[in-house]
Amino acid sequence: MNTQALINTASALVAGDKGLLAMDESTATCNKRFAALGIPQDEEMRRDYRALLITTPGLSAGISGAILYDETIHQRTREGTSFLNVLIDSGILPGIKVDMGTKDMAGHPGEKITEGLDGLRERLIAYGEMGARFAKWRAVFTIGDGTPSQSCIETNAQDLARYAALCQETGLVPVVEPEVLMDGAHTLEQCSAVTEEVLHEVFSQLYAQRVMLEGIILKPNMVLPGLTCPQQATANEIADATVTCLLQAVPAAVPGIAFLSGGQPAELATLRLNAMNVRFKSRLPWALAFSFARAIQQPALEIWAGQPEQVAAAQCALLHRIRCNQAARRGDYNALYEHP
Ligand code: 13P
Repeated sequence: MNTQALINTASALVAGDKGLLAMDESTATCNKRFAALGIPQDEEMRRDYRALLITTPGLSAGISGAILYDETIHQRTREGTSFLNVLIDSGILPGIKVDMGTKDMAGHPGEKITEGLDGLRERLIAYGEMGARFAKWRAVFTIGDGTPSQSCIETNAQDLARYAALCQETGLVPVVEPEVLMDGAHTLEQCSAVTEEVLHEVFSQLYAQRVMLEGIILKPNMVLPGLTCPQQATANEIADATVTCLLQAVPAAVPGIAFLSGGQPAELATLRLNAMNVRFKSRLPWALAFSFARAIQQPALEIWAGQPEQVAAAQCALLHRIRCNQAARRGDYNALYEHP
């Protein structure tokens, strides 16, 4: 394992005010998003859409790395340039989602386990040879009646740690994504308690599997009240709850925390990230960055809607969200960014 190279890659992913562009939706998820907008759900349209994203002029000013999906990492633009080369040539680190999705956990109604460890070492080696520099694995936890169970937390955390150890052995930085879902009526406090418990278990397993913490990125949820909780929270309350929770559970050796958006409206995700950096940035051991999919892509996807003449307008919308999130990293985002 080249320790220094892993540290350098992890640091580069959260450097300055940049963040990650998560564009690793599985085919099923991408098709679902397309279907909602009446976009044909075939490989060519998925290729055109992902090409739109990665060829956005100026993308690398705000994006340090892009997370691809297996179909996408093998694709080329209409002009014939491989997506990997488009990214590498523009100075963006290519990453790859390597989990095989979530499946029902046997004996645990309502809970999910992430699959994908079988053959993972060989897949990581192959992706590394293609040019990938980092990888991603997502586990999900649902807050409900008796969930998440201890066994769901332990098993998913151990799998995340085994994945992370294999990544580092192969020279790829693991992006470790334990996601406590927003669905449900739980309170901010309940989300905080569950997120803290999950993160404690994840870091305990990372330690047990000898993962070098300086060479990972953590990709957690923000601490939020459930979508149907009657008591919603302000951006400042969410910032306080999230950072307080992370300080309890995330070792200082971790270089960066890049949040998922989890279905939050784009502007709210930005506002909340900004509140965290305004209130805490100078006192934190790790960078607080973004690794959004929906909260960075959705406006662009809606503008494109499958129409070639809308590519430039969609790229503008993507760049706009990126600039807003860069401002949130610096802690100087405000309403004027959205409505100048
Ligand atoms: P969202 O930002 O849409 O939650 O997606 C992030 C991600 O990578 C999910 O695995």
